[in-house]
Amino acid sequence: MLKVTKAVFPVAGLGTRFLPATKASPKEMLPVVDKPLIQYAVEEAMAAGITEMIFVTGRSKRAIEDHFDKSYEIEAELEARGKEKLLSLVRSIKPSHVHCFYVRQAEALGLGHAVLCAEKLVGDSPFAVVLADDLLDGKPPVLRQMIDVFDHYHTSVLGVEEIALEESKSYGVIDGKQWEDNIFKLSGIVEKPAPSDAPSRYGVVGRYVLKPRIFEHLRALRPGSGGELQLTDAIQSLLVDEQVLAYRYEGTRFDCGSKLGYLKATVEFALRHPELSADFAAYLATRQVELPA
Ligand code: G1P
Repeated sequence: MLKVTKAVFPVAGLGTRFLPATKASPKEMLPVVDKPLIQYAVEEAMAAGITEMIFVTGRSKRAIEDHFDKSYEIEAELEARGKEKLLSLVRSIKPSHVHCFYVRQAEALGLGHAVLCAEKLVGDSPFAVVLADDLLDGKPPVLRQMIDVFDHYHTSVLGVEEIALEESKSYGVIDGKQWEDNIFKLSGIVEKPAPSDAPSRYGVVGRYVLKPRIFEHLRALRPGSGGELQLTDAIQSLLVDEQVLAYRYEGTRFDCGSKLGYLKATVEFALRHPELSADFAAYLATRQVELPA
């Protein structure tokens, strides 16, 4: 059985919810404390044994390519100043056994289209899809948990969590039967249904492990929710050919596609940052915030 060694990171979105911060720079480069969102996502993939990172980029995405390139100037400067710790930190962003590839999504036609843009680079292998604005904090890392499920059952696996029914319009929502602890056998999936149409309380988070047959279904997509080509619709269509599982991951999700989720992630990660935790906790303790009337 083939191992999952490739991950696709769709990073061509416009990031309108974070304007003006994202006018000239991608939302995936927004830092949570001192690390950009995309680096958290790549680290999660590396921890899951992924060695080929495939970024589907759009306009204003050069910062991502620069981030994962070797930076001769910074490394020479840190070396000259004897800053060993920072030097190894900068070098660890992309270890030498990890390779980055970039493909452009010329038009923002939706998540399904973004994944389809990676078809040539993925080829005939199972692969992960990682949406960097879902910052997932799990032990083991969530993608590792999901690839373990994939390695066991050899079928596509979607990361899901229980959502509030009124939030169904923000998620792909699955239909299916519980099969084992934390594992559901999919019978359907709907993109962003109204609460009254939601087939379950389980929403897909930004982690997928997919078999390459999904590409046939992505190629046949017609515009769906929001007029976009939806990955969710291709998964619904894949169900005709193959079994798909949903896995309720263990861990915490920070929805960094929203300002509130992003702020929560910042507070949580600052509170556990080795250089900041004590001082930041002390600062927070001085803040008696009054709730608006
Ligand atoms: C995308 C997917 C959706 C999924 C969500 C997870 O939506 O289309 O099915 O539940 O990511 O974050 P988006 O948040 O990009 O609108």
